[in-house]
Amino acid sequence: MSSLIVVGCQWGDEGKGKIVDYLASQADYVTRFQGGSNAGHTINVGNETYKLRLLPSGVLHRKKLVIANGVVVDPAVLLQEISDLTGHGYAPDLALSDRAHVTLSYHQMLDAAEEKFKGALRSGTTLRGIGPTYTDKVARYGIRVCDLLDAETLKQKLTQNSILKQKILTSVYESDSRVDERQLLDTCLRFGKELQPYVADTSIVLSNALDNGKRVLFEGAQGLMLDVDHGLYPFGTSSNTVAGAVCTGAGIGPGRINGVLGVVKAYTSRVGAGPVPTELTDEIGSRLQEKGKEFGTVTGRRRRCGWVDAVALRLAVRVNSLSTMALTKVDTLGGFSPIKICVEYELDGRRITEQPAALREYSNCKPVYEEMEGWPDLPPSDWASIAKKGYSSLPTQARSYIERLEEITKVPAKIISVGEARNATIHRSEVWPG
Ligand code: GDP
Ligand code: IMO
Ligand code: MG
Repeated sequence: MSSLIVVGCQWGDEGKGKIVDYLASQADYVTRFQGGSNAGHTINVGNETYKLRLLPSGVLHRKKLVIANGVVVDPAVLLQEISDLTGHGYAPDLALSDRAHVTLSYHQMLDAAEEKFKGALRSGTTLRGIGPTYTDKVARYGIRVCDLLDAETLKQKLTQNSILKQKILTSVYESDSRVDERQLLDTCLRFGKELQPYVADTSIVLSNALDNGKRVLFEGAQGLMLDVDHGLYPFGTSSNTVAGAVCTGAGIGPGRINGVLGVVKAYTSRVGAGPVPTELTDEIGSRLQEKGKEFGTVTGRRRRCGWVDAVALRLAVRVNSLSTMALTKVDTLGGFSPIKICVEYELDGRRITEQPAALREYSNCKPVYEEMEGWPDLPPSDWASIAKKGYSSLPTQARSYIERLEEITKVPAKIISVGEARNATIHRSEVWPG
């Protein structure tokens, strides 16, 4: 058996979709285990661009796909994605967990109302109802995929939830949004009917797959700094985005995990609110944003850009037990010189090497940089031919940058991505364990 977890090591959008698609050719199963349709994972194949929000990024290789219990599933988004992909000739071979919680319209209403109420403490969510769905799960108000198949349970839960959510929306948040119980029931029954062929106990599906020697890839969404425990609370998302979340989110034990690959963008990007120590609010930041086409996949918002933050990367290495890194967007950094790496923070005149928990302290952290010489800006065709020739044909300065990041993190960067396309990828050595 062999299992490999892919996680984001920064603020999301590191290029997980591209890397998972790349690795999926060598996998049998690709599994999402946390997050929901807040994710936007981009895959470029030929002239086509696919932006996946719930379906695992193995769909274009026609692999077995699993949406496990830890994911919050918006059935409308999932059904639309299934229909779009089927229309492109990629009908998904999907197992959807009967235990996954579903995101309904009242979750999105609450997401908007909560953000408005929070004001300066809002995290600039994707407004997809992610936080309220996880809140319901933990508070035990949640509706699960299995409930969509049981009209009686569904009715009982929806009646209670409609009354409660309407009260909260109207009386607490002074929102005009209306929860329509009848419509919710009809919609949920339709969702149940349409999703029924995919519903399974995915913990058993995955366990059997591993018992039978299959290769299973776990696809993380978001990134370390958005993790609800280890990221920058309260500016992150509502799930655990770290590798450990695979155990609870997919129902497999820690002993079945063989390797963890962290995806690291060669610089930092952040969509949404909250402090980012290495953010560049100057012309360099704007150039990175434009050159990297850094717009949110889900919301279209401009991503804030800055230098790579090795303090965050070291945290990612520690909490995820990273065995390998995939470094993306090395091509985008071409033409910037010098390039900076944040190695420590300065806080109240002291040098610190770890992230403080308190938001006020984190907001006051100033990056301490190391500088490195940059490499030339090259056209995509040059990067494609470099990818073909291999690691040694990368510009010397790019190799020095990669090797410095390896030295700081003590993790080998076995995959280097130098473009959006599948083949703009350098595979330095085997990433699959065993
Ligand atoms: P994800 O959420 O981690 O899957 O990342 P997104 O798909 O939201 O954002 C990453 C963006 O960078 C997408 O538009 C990718 O096509 C693109 N991308 C990924 N790797 C590279 C790379 O090495 N070079 C360039 N230029 N673009 C890349
Ligand atoms: P992928 O998987 C980047 C951010 C939002 C917001 C915060 C909370 O594509 O990397 P939420 O809607 O989850 O309650 O929003 O988290 N966020 C992401 N940022 N990439 C993502 O996913 C994200 N998913 C959520 O912008 O700041
Ligand atoms: Mg994304």
